Amino acid sequence: MNKTPIEVGNSQALYQRAKQLIPGGTQLLSKRPEMFLPDLWPAYYSEAKGCKVTDLDGKEYIDVGLMGVGTNLLGFCDEDVDNAVIKAVRQGTNTTLNSPEEVELAELMLDLHPWAEMVRYTRTGGEAMAVAVRIARASTGKDKVMFCGYHGWHDWYISSNLADDKLGDGHLIPGLEPNGVPRALLNSSIPFTYNDVQDFADKIEKHGKDMAAVVMESVRNFEPNADFFAAVRAETTKRGIILIVDEITAGFRMNIGGAHLRYNLEPDIAVFGKAFSNGYPMAAIIGKKQFMEAAQTSFISSLFWTERIGLAATLATIKKMQKVDSPARVIAVGEEVQAGWKKISASTGVDFKVLGFPAISAMGISHPKVLAYKTYYIQEMLKRGYLATIAFYASCAHEGYVPDYLRHTEEIFGEIGELMKSDADPASFLQGPQCHAGFARLT
Ligand SMILES: Cc1ncc(COP(=O)(O)O)c(C=O)c1O
Repeated sequence: MNKTPIEVGNSQALYQRAKQLIPGGTQLLSKRPEMFLPDLWPAYYSEAKGCKVTDLDGKEYIDVGLMGVGTNLLGFCDEDVDNAVIKAVRQGTNTTLNSPEEVELAELMLDLHPWAEMVRYTRTGGEAMAVAVRIARASTGKDKVMFCGYHGWHDWYISSNLADDKLGDGHLIPGLEPNGVPRALLNSSIPFTYNDVQDFADKIEKHGKDMAAVVMESVRNFEPNADFFAAVRAETTKRGIILIVDEITAGFRMNIGGAHLRYNLEPDIAVFGKAFSNGYPMAAIIGKKQFMEAAQTSFISSLFWTERIGLAATLATIKKMQKVDSPARVIAVGEEVQAGWKKISASTGVDFKVLGFPAISAMGISHPKVLAYKTYYIQEMLKRGYLATIAFYASCAHEGYVPDYLRHTEEIFGEIGELMKSDADPASFLQGPQCHAGFARLT
């Protein structure tokens, strides 16, 4: 075991200050240092390139964890994308007139998704989902939504975590607190379980007549069963319910476009964000004309949905993804990681499931002390110069880095295996508090 203490540098010190000024310290739960290594995580970066990130003390790390929370499949600071952005900046990012790239990107998105006919834009994923749900409600004149998966912070989604009485609030999806969401929205969003045809059938039978939309991620931790997508598509079509597929995390990772294309699923609306703009703010809602036109019957409008940087970045990212075949490269990296993890589980005796599709893999460790072991792994990887966690978002920039990453992981899992056998308290090997749990996903 490496007893060297982690030095707390300027990055963590700045985070302590941030917590006095910014509730929660940062704007995204998944970037809170407490999710990794409380009090010790190098919370801020000065610069990044490829899969490397430098903290405020000039220490360089290899990001083998969330990789910009899934945004940077071409690596940080991709030159072609950045050059397109710099050009947009020099040409002016916001004027009284609109950016012509809106039309170019619409045409590109519709070429990639021949079932869709119209496009709207936002700049973040959660708001794009809120737009999609608003359009579905406006189009059908109905209020209820059925969903599985995670879709952001907006009221339509978090209201599903309201219970009949305040004490029960938050129990359905632990970690997504609904405080502040109007109780009048109780029972307006109904969760169902991904891949569970019977659960879907029961709930749509019960609520279907008031239903505007069924919302789901195309794929997340598990591949879709063939009969699941068929049942969802058939029932929604039969009942005039709009099928919205959330591609914010799955899209543009394993193929160019939505993951639904890989499964021959034709939704009515699909929503994109994250990977297709390589780290710049951008999101898109695409859909069939008969539904999308309802956007004009409701007020859906925001100034920065018109700015130029997101558009320029997205056009450049998609073109580069096509040119370098990023899906094949990302899948190859992810498969290398998954194969390595399986061997590590076998060689160290630390029993875990390999979850997810190769582009986003996660270790499913079921152990009562999982958070302490996870923290130990993150702590020891940080000492070795890695920003790691028990998930791996693969990118083109990871090519060549996987063997060393796996070697370090195997060594640390070897120690974890010994700890597990020894009955020792893993918390006693931590140099700070253990990491916080994330939120549950109804997938
Ligand atoms: C599937 C899915 N939908 C929606 C969102 C919300 O996107 P954002 O954080 O950009 O609001 C996310 C973000 O993680 C996501 O993974």
